[in-house]
Amino acid sequence: MFGRVKSLDAILATAAKRPLHRSLGAFQLTMLGIGAVIGTGIFVLTAEAAQKAGPGMMVSFIIAGAVCAAAGLCYAELSSMVPVAGSAYTYTYAVLGEVLAWMVGWALVLEYALGASAVAVGWSHHFVGLLHDFAHIDIPQAIANAPNDGGIINLPAVAITILITWLLVIGTTESARVNAVLVMVKLAALALFLVLALPVMQADKFTPFMPTGMPGVAGAAASIFFAYVGFDAVSTAAEETINPQRNVPIGLIGSLAICTVIYMLVAAGAVGAIGAQPVTSAAGVLLDPGSAELTARCAQITSGGAALPMTCSHEALVTVMQQLGHLQAGNLLALAATIALPSVILMMMYGQTRVAFVMARDGLFPENFAKVHPRFKTPYVITIVTGIVALIFAGFLPVGKLADLSNAGTLFAFACVAIAVMVLRRKDPSRVRSFRTPLVWAIGPMAIAGCLYLFFSLPTFTKTFFPVWAAIGLVIYFSYSRGRSHVGRGLVEVHEADDDAPPAQGT
Ligand code: ALA
Repeated sequence: MFGRVKSLDAILATAAKRPLHRSLGAFQLTMLGIGAVIGTGIFVLTAEAAQKAGPGMMVSFIIAGAVCAAAGLCYAELSSMVPVAGSAYTYTYAVLGEVLAWMVGWALVLEYALGASAVAVGWSHHFVGLLHDFAHIDIPQAIANAPNDGGIINLPAVAITILITWLLVIGTTESARVNAVLVMVKLAALALFLVLALPVMQADKFTPFMPTGMPGVAGAAASIFFAYVGFDAVSTAAEETINPQRNVPIGLIGSLAICTVIYMLVAAGAVGAIGAQPVTSAAGVLLDPGSAELTARCAQITSGGAALPMTCSHEALVTVMQQLGHLQAGNLLALAATIALPSVILMMMYGQTRVAFVMARDGLFPENFAKVHPRFKTPYVITIVTGIVALIFAGFLPVGKLADLSNAGTLFAFACVAIAVMVLRRKDPSRVRSFRTPLVWAIGPMAIAGCLYLFFSLPTFTKTFFPVWAAIGLVIYFSYSRGRSHVGRGLVEVHEADDDAPPAQGT
């Protein structure tokens, strides 16, 4: 059952037809990482993390960052050896076989498509907030929030998802220059936050530091893991990197380290400035983020005239600014998020289309998915399918649930990649690796253990949903994909004209 592998040599023959130009240095890689990483996680989910862990969420940021660092180093080795599109899916196909590859590809739908939905919802909260605070235009709750969140449908999130889908269909990709500008916008916004929040920190706001104990900190780490997702963009650029053995780890660890430090400081600023103790029911029971109970309780607290607790906010950092009396700074932060978050959605949706494109070309998804638009030269069918999936989830689920589901898929994929690296070291030790994971026998198991730890710290809903999702995937695999698989049918083709990725797109 695990024997059906796609030969590494066939994959590499494909890649060899398309040697990429090596142009990225350590600095560009670090920027790439930061651009893909900073988004809804820090701007929105800080509130959810605080609801789970209180000030202890600062520890959660470190735990999640460390797991990502270990997983990222494993990712980098494989992407430097198998530098073709499809990332974790392709690596798993070559090393662990088709069933697991399918499962990884199926899990990546969660990572990318639902991840895009999560960022779209985070964007919508900032956009709606900005309209309210700056332009005094009120979008009714009913059409600006998911059902559990006090609304019926999140239309702004649906709208931005449609817009991004359209951009991808007509062939928009983000240039390095646009990325650099957006990174600056995000960093400037976070710097403004720190300048205003850090000086007014009060020590007493940090106690109790871990009101929900270690389980709360672990739960927050599992959710806030989302704030780091996207750094794998650095690993997948290994082939375009000058001296990857040196620059990939610098880019990867550098962007993760910079983000971890920024996140810790932002978390400290938020906690120290206005406090971040979890909201409980009137009876003192801790309420789940994203639950109808928490929404109702938050409404009750504010209706009494009290300030909105940070843990109730959908725009955590903006709320902190507002409560410190910096209304314009709050607006600037919301504006920065409104401008910069769409590029994170774009990257995630793009990632999804690439993986699905390769899966369709391998025969595991309907081959129609890989159809390329005659004029725009983009894989428009899969892009539209991805857009539809993402907009349905964005419309009807709250941001925290979406992020948790995305995390479950990502953690599964990361764990498989860590396993694949170690298996390949044994099976094929002499193959050239332009980047080798340092201390792989320590880092690999650490990555796997970290992914398991975070997965089991996710909320029960997510832990239940994931096996159901996986089971649906297996049913599809055995009833549809297995019989159509090109590898299974002995069709191992080396693609020349269109390669292993969607055709190059105009910018
Ligand atoms: N890490 C990205 C974000 O937080 C996905 O939005």
